[in-house]
Order: sequence, then C-alpha cells, then structure tokens
Amino acid sequence: MNLADLNKVALAMVAPGKGILAADESSGTIKKRFDAIKVESTEDNRRDYREMLFRSQDAMSKYISGVILYDETIWQNAKDGTPLVKLIEQAGSIPGIKVDEGTQPLPGCPGELVTVGLDKLAERLKKYYERGARFAKWRAVIDIGSGGGGSGTGGRGIPTMTAIRVNAHALARYAALCQAAQIVPIVEPEVLMDGDHDIDRCYEVTQRVLNRTFQELRVQRVALEGMILKPNMAISGKKCPKQASVQEVAEKTVRLLKSCVPAAVPGIAFLSGGQSDEEATAHLDAMNKIGNLPWGLTFSYGRALQAAPQKAWSGKAENVPAGQRAFSHRARMNGLASTGKWDA
Ligand code: 13P
Repeated sequence: MNLADLNKVALAMVAPGKGILAADESSGTIKKRFDAIKVESTEDNRRDYREMLFRSQDAMSKYISGVILYDETIWQNAKDGTPLVKLIEQAGSIPGIKVDEGTQPLPGCPGELVTVGLDKLAERLKKYYERGARFAKWRAVIDIGSGGGGSGTGGRGIPTMTAIRVNAHALARYAALCQAAQIVPIVEPEVLMDGDHDIDRCYEVTQRVLNRTFQELRVQRVALEGMILKPNMAISGKKCPKQASVQEVAEKTVRLLKSCVPAAVPGIAFLSGGQSDEEATAHLDAMNKIGNLPWGLTFSYGRALQAAPQKAWSGKAENVPAGQRAFSHRARMNGLASTGKWDA
C-alpha cells in the first residue's frame, strides 16, 4: 500500500468547493427512481441517463470531485463508444465503485440487516482498479427502532449491539482490503432517518455506531489518512413530530463528528438519506459556516443531487440539456455549501 497516494486521492475527493456524486444505485433502486418518472429501466436507458450526468461539463469539472458507480455502469460505454469511466476522467473527476452486494437479514436479530460482499472482494477490487476506480464504497445500514408502538421500521431494542458490531467489522474488513488494492475506501455506516425518533436519539445511536466503526478500523489496521467517512447527519426521524432546525442539525452533527472522528481522517462526505434537496444543501452549508473543522466536510449525495435532473430529463432525449442544467444547479449549490458560501 502507498499511503501517500491514498491520502492524495482522499484529499482530492473532499477538495474545497467539490463533493461526490453517488450514482451507484443498484438495478433495483434505479428502477424505483425511473418508475417515479415513468421511464422503463432498461440497460440503454440507465446508460443514457448516467451519460447525461457525466457529460454535464460545468457540474463535473467544477463541483464533482468523484463519482460512485455501480458495477454495470463501470463497464458501460457511452453511445459513441467512449467508456463512461473515461467521460468522468476527462472532466477531471475521479471514478469510484460501490463494492458491497447489498444487505441480508442478520440471524438472531429480527428486523436487522448485515451488509454482504466480502467474498472474492480482493479479486474484484483488482479488476476495478484496472478499469480506473480509485475509490470504493461500502454501505452498512443501521435502523433505529421505534421504541414500541411508533412508526419506525424496527422495534424496541433496535439497533442491537450485535448489528452494530458485525456491520462495523465488515466495514473494516472491506476498508483494509481496499487499501491493500490501492483504493480509497469510503466507509459508510448509515443510521437511517426512517421512523419517529428525535434528533437526540439519532445522535446517541450514531455516536455508538461511529465509535464502534473506528474501533474496528483501528483493530484491522486501516490507515485513517487513506479513507473517507460517509455518515448520516444527526437529524430528526422523518416521522418525528418535532423536526430539528437547520442550525440544531448543524451544531449537533459537528459536535458528534468532532467527538468520534479522528483528525487523521482527511474528509467526511455526507449521504443525503431522504432529506429534500434544499435541506441537504442547507445543513451542509450551516456546518461549514460553523467552521474550524479538522477534516474536509462535503457531500456524497445520491437523491439530493439527482431528483431534480431525473424529473427534468424524464427519459426524453430532447430534455437532456434541461436535465444537465438541473444537475449543474444542484451541484453548484452543494459546492457552495461545502465551503459555507451558500445562501438560501
Ligand atoms: P442518498 O444521498 O440518496 O442517501 O445516497 C447516497 C448513498 O450513496 C447511499 O448509499
């Protein structure tokens, strides 16, 4: 492993004014997004859609430091035969790849999930590196139970320490394998915002998850200088009657991350997790306005960058310029938020 090079890539991923486009929806997830805009999820439509994003010159060259791809996409060519990976590189952005293989029920822990995909990961990483990937992503999912009778997807006693431990262990196994393959791991332990829990419950669960994750990363000798953390924000559950303000989310998230994430980590890039486009931008901006942070703090958004361009495009070739304008706008807003210069 060449740690200096890993560190260089990680720093480029969180360069001021830039952030990451998460375009790594699995076939199942992109189908859901396409269903919403009444577009059939064929291989060609998926390619056309992603080609539209990666050819958005303004957004890609100025605001998007890297793109997380799904396995299908990393091997796909644009309509003119250029590999999609090349389009990303030509725009000055870094190609990355989602390498987890989704979740499975965790035995003994009803309602909880464990992320899978470690088998043969070393071989897969080698092929992805040859294709141009310089970073990877693995997402663990932690649900917050409703505490009984509420509207959360889990139940009382969730998350269990078992679910937190096995997911942290897998994240660290993945991260160590990535670094051995000269690929920067994005470590993503996502505490879901589904449910009726308040922001303080989210804070407490996320703190437990992050502490355990960094403990495992240390045990498995992952070099913190060569990774990026992709966490959720400390935020109210979607169905919580009392929604925390932008300022409260920003202050609590910064406090939480400062207490859990070592300064050796070059950067933190948030997931949007179901926040609206504008909320995701406002929260990131408010955190960067607080300032004085030991790591770069930016976005690695999927939905909050893509909902608008998906709607504008709606599967029609003549809407490509409108889709690109919508994408460029969101990318620019989040780019501004990554330096605390966005204004509502
Ligand atoms: P969202 O921003 O839509 O949550 O997606 C980011 C991501 O990569 C989730 O794994």
